[in-house]
Amino acid sequence: MKALGILAGPRKGRTTDKMIDAVLDGLKDRGAEIEKISLYDYDIKPCMGCYECEKTKKCVIDDDQRIVLDKMDKADVVVFGTPTYWSNVSSVAKKFFDRSLPFFDMGKTGPVRTAKKPGKVVLITSCGCPYPFTHLLGIITGCIRAMRVVFGRMNAKIKTLYVPGMMDPEKDGPSEKMLKKAYRLGKNI
Ligand SMILES: Cc1cc2nc3c(=O)[nH]c(=O)nc-3n(C[C@H](O)[C@H](O)[C@H](O)COP(=O)(O)O)c2cc1C
Repeated sequence: MKALGILAGPRKGRTTDKMIDAVLDGLKDRGAEIEKISLYDYDIKPCMGCYECEKTKKCVIDDDQRIVLDKMDKADVVVFGTPTYWSNVSSVAKKFFDRSLPFFDMGKTGPVRTAKKPGKVVLITSCGCPYPFTHLLGIITGCIRAMRVVFGRMNAKIKTLYVPGMMDPEKDGPSEKMLKKAYRLGKNI
């Protein structure tokens, strides 16, 4: 089993990244082959909306998006994490989503993934706002919805994890309880 972790936030080693690592640790302990990348290390330009990929299944822009989609195409499990920015995903995650059209086939209701991989997806986010305002104000729900719009069109079972209340970027981080939950999710996926 191949598992691909994708960090779509700029801060390596912080909340979102730690949660991705915990899920990947669980996956590793159940024998999965692990790879992790950070989208901020890749050159991903914005979608031009030309629709060429609908005909050719390939984006006209020759940049690192092709590398990332190729990795995702081979993964059985994808662990995708973004910090919540303005109740949504990070701007780099959004560029990645827009440019993922060649990963799908065009169905009657929009893009659908017909290939089997990835069969399982874990979506992760963290935000500053504490629970339950995360949900009352649509903060976490906004970010998770944005991720589900894309990953929900794949042939995949989806699990979500979120860490609220990460108000102080220098001090805060996921609790041991949250990290254990993430590890267990990976181990029992
Ligand atoms: C540009 C930006 C926008 C943010 N927008 C929100 C937001 O809408 N709601 C919120 O609760 N926290 C928001 N935050 C706080 C982050 O989501 C929070 O600190 C998160 O835990 C950071 O994750 P990281 O430690 O993995 O980078 C924002 C932070 C930044 C830098």
